[in-house]
Amino acid sequence: MGSATQAPVTGTRPEGAANEHEARQYVRRMFGDIAARYDLLNHLLSGNLDRLWRRGAAAAFDHILRLPSARVLDVCCGTGDLTLALKRRATHSCSAGARIIGSDFAHPMLARAAEKGRAAIASSANQISWLEADALNLPFAPGTFDLITMGWGFRNLTNYESGLREFFRLLRPGGELGILECAEPRGALFGSLFRFYFRNVVPKVGGAVSGNGAAYAYLPASVQKFLVPEQLARLMSDVGFVNVGYKLWTGGSIALHTGRRTR
Ligand SMILES: C[S@@+](CC[C@H](N)C(=O)[O-])C[C@H]1O[C@@H](n2cnc3c(N)ncnc32)[C@H](O)[C@@H]1O
Repeated sequence: MGSATQAPVTGTRPEGAANEHEARQYVRRMFGDIAARYDLLNHLLSGNLDRLWRRGAAAAFDHILRLPSARVLDVCCGTGDLTLALKRRATHSCSAGARIIGSDFAHPMLARAAEKGRAAIASSANQISWLEADALNLPFAPGTFDLITMGWGFRNLTNYESGLREFFRLLRPGGELGILECAEPRGALFGSLFRFYFRNVVPKVGGAVSGNGAAYAYLPASVQKFLVPEQLARLMSDVGFVNVGYKLWTGGSIALHTGRRTR
C-alpha cells in the first residue's frame, strides 16, 4: 500500500516493467490474455458481489443517468459489465436517449463487451458504443461528457495524475467522475482474512482457471501498492475536482471515489 515512507506511487508498475511504456504494454497484453475467463473469475472470486458493486456505482450516478441526453464514458470498460450496468440504470430511470460509450485498449476484452452489448442495445432506447482507446489519451473534445466512470481500471493506469487530468479535460463543467476500485481493508480481523484470501487463494484459483498465473498474482500485488483511498482523494482534489469523497463497501475492500468538475 502506498505510504508516506515509500516513494510516491505514480502509476502501476508490474513486475519487470522498467518504465511507463513497458508497464502499458504489459497491462494491455495481460488483459487481452485473460479476456476469455475474465467474467467467470470476477463472479467466482467475488462470490458474485462484483455485480452488486457495479449496480451500486451506477445507482450513485442516477441523477446524471436520468438526464434525457446524458453523455457517459466508461473508461477501461473491459468486457463491459459496468457499461451495461450504467445502461440498465439509465433505462430504469426512464432516460431515453442516454449515450454511453465503453472504452478500453485491450481488443479481446472489448470484443466481448461488444458481443454482450448487442442484445442490450437492440432492446433499449439508450445507445451504447465501444471504442478501442488508451485511457490516457482519449479522442474526444474537452467538455464532452456528463459522467466518466471506471471500474477497477484506474489502478492499472501507468500514470494516475495524467489519467485524472484527461478525465477532467473530458468532463463538462458540473460533470462527475466515479472510480470504483479495490482497497485493502483496515479492520484487524477482516483485513487479515482479506489479505490471506487475496494473496493466497486468488492467485491460485485465478491462475488455474485462466491459465495465467502472473495476471492473478499481479492483482493482489497491484492492490497492495495502490494509493490508499485518502491519497487518491487528495490527488483528485489536486487535479481540480471538487466535492471529492469516497464510500467504502464490503468491509473496506471496495471504494467508490467521486468528484465533480466545476470550471
Ligand atoms: C480489471 S479490468 C476492469 C474491467 C471492467 N471495468 C469491469 O468492471 O470489470 C481493467 C481494464 O482496464 C483496461 N486498461 C488498463 N489500462 C488501460 C489504459 N491505459 N487504457 C485503456 N484501457 C486500460 C484493461 O485492458 C482492462 O480491460
